[in-house]
Amino acid sequence: MATIRLGDMAPDFTADSSLGMINLYDYLGDGWGILFSHPADFTPVCTTELGTASKFKDEFAKRNVKMMALSVDGAASHNEWIQDINETQNTKVDFPIIADEDKKVSNMYDMIHPNADNNLTVRSVFIIAPDKTVKLIITYPASTGRNFHELLRVIDSLQLTAYHKVATPANWNHGEDVVVSPAIATEDAKKIFSKGVTEVKPYLRMTPDPTA
Ligand code: BEZ
Repeated sequence: MATIRLGDMAPDFTADSSLGMINLYDYLGDGWGILFSHPADFTPVCTTELGTASKFKDEFAKRNVKMMALSVDGAASHNEWIQDINETQNTKVDFPIIADEDKKVSNMYDMIHPNADNNLTVRSVFIIAPDKTVKLIITYPASTGRNFHELLRVIDSLQLTAYHKVATPANWNHGEDVVVSPAIATEDAKKIFSKGVTEVKPYLRMTPDPTA
């Protein structure tokens, strides 16, 4: 079992999936990626999650993020389940679901938490940047379906802060004011951020979202 931390290289793998054999790095190319695990096929919460993820595919594509799901069931089972998801969630799942029957990828990504369940994956989320470093790790229990609005919100923050010297405050959404990076002096910030800088405290400077 490996421990993956923020900033680490996402371990590459080749595995079977609902779309056949797939290699993570080839699949992601030079874009962003989201890899998320599910406890098991033909389970209710997972069905709603995969349906929701599928309905959000244009939003992920807009952000240049490729989606990849995983569970420890086989590819034939995934493909049968996808038909149910499409039918019940009114969508068409077209991103790969990794068939991790030997738990190779689950163990590589530490997706099995034995004190929660020794055999099934928890609901892990990894966001991978174009340089293949891991930018976000979130772990949810099996009983809690994920919030895909939140995942898009975090991706917006990651993509903004990758290119601008800002951070995003609590509950931030794209278009709202952002925090000037603490590493920048206020005088310099005023030159960098043409939309203006408000100094609330010397350590808390706000500026409009530079991309909005
Ligand atoms: C579900 O996806 O509904 C689920 C899976 C495993 C445990 C609990 C719920």
